[in-house]
Amino acid sequence: MTDRSSLVQAARAELAALPSAGLGLWPTPLHRLERFSEAVGAEIWIKRDDIQGVALAGNKIRKFDLVLGQALAKGYDTLVTTGARQSNSARTGAAAAAMLGMDCVLLLSGDEPPRATANLLLDHLLGADVRFAGDVGWADLNRELDRIVTDLDATGRRAFAAPVGCSSPLGTLGFARAFQELDGQLEALGLAPEAVVHASTSGGTHAGLLVGRALSERDLRLIAVDVGLISRRPAFTLARMANRAAEELGFDAGISEAEIEVLEDQLGDGYAIPTPAGDAAIALLARTEAILTDPVYSGKGLAGLLALVERGELSGPIVFWHTGGYHALFDPDFAEGH
Ligand SMILES: Cc1ncc(COP(=O)(O)O)c(C=O)c1O
Repeated sequence: MTDRSSLVQAARAELAALPSAGLGLWPTPLHRLERFSEAVGAEIWIKRDDIQGVALAGNKIRKFDLVLGQALAKGYDTLVTTGARQSNSARTGAAAAAMLGMDCVLLLSGDEPPRATANLLLDHLLGADVRFAGDVGWADLNRELDRIVTDLDATGRRAFAAPVGCSSPLGTLGFARAFQELDGQLEALGLAPEAVVHASTSGGTHAGLLVGRALSERDLRLIAVDVGLISRRPAFTLARMANRAAEELGFDAGISEAEIEVLEDQLGDGYAIPTPAGDAAIALLARTEAILTDPVYSGKGLAGLLALVERGELSGPIVFWHTGGYHALFDPDFAEGH
């Protein structure tokens, strides 16, 4: 065995040993999109992380699984997390906490609206204690998060804070496990896709997939479609996040900026602002396969995949990683345009 391969083996064992909270119904399905592929003119498969058995599912479940697995192992009984008012991550945290019998406090930015809709409605339904921080920046939000943890601890609770998007190094490793799950499915199908394409914002999903690929023997392109512009240098940020997550496994992944592929032309006018290409991709997938994507994340991610096919930069087979997210479909502003 070479040195590198024994280090990879050791890191894989570390990854397998991380405690799981048992949240997802895994593996999520991987299936071919027959009618969509025909319409697009390329062989396209889909990884269904929109179906995972927890509320409306989505990519954050894989992160919360490891983060809460560790929290439970350490005896924490309350999850405190934060995000925007309609955060998918916060809603997933509320769902995960409900499933595990933990209490959950959500600190959301903005003011309380007169009526709770979409994810906010679900946060309440899932039993979370929802608090509003007003119009503050991330630094203030994090300070307030720490204050809530201290106050809860003073009342005898054992509170645990998960960061925005649950994209801590440990949460990120949820997607290294997800890559291994996909690898096994591809192996069983005898399928060797050219690329995996998905929507990206905080970067945890992509960074985790990069770690998974570094621990595998599979050669495929990983393409992040930036739908939230988290950094002015996304490739640098993603490489750093991936290397930092691999360090949790005692592994020096040595992932360089040069191997990161980020598609930056699908953002349109900004985060959460629908684009014509995103809306068209949502409609095409819905009408050919009855699979729903949303205008903030997965619809723009899918539009990125279609743009790459159209420009001849991908020919297939391609796996579209459906990261979930539905609430924006029910946003009145989005619905008005349809
Ligand atoms: C539905 C959905 N897809 C994709 C993403 C992006 O994932 P990440 O933050 O890991 O880049 C998010 C993040 O909120 C999301 O909610």
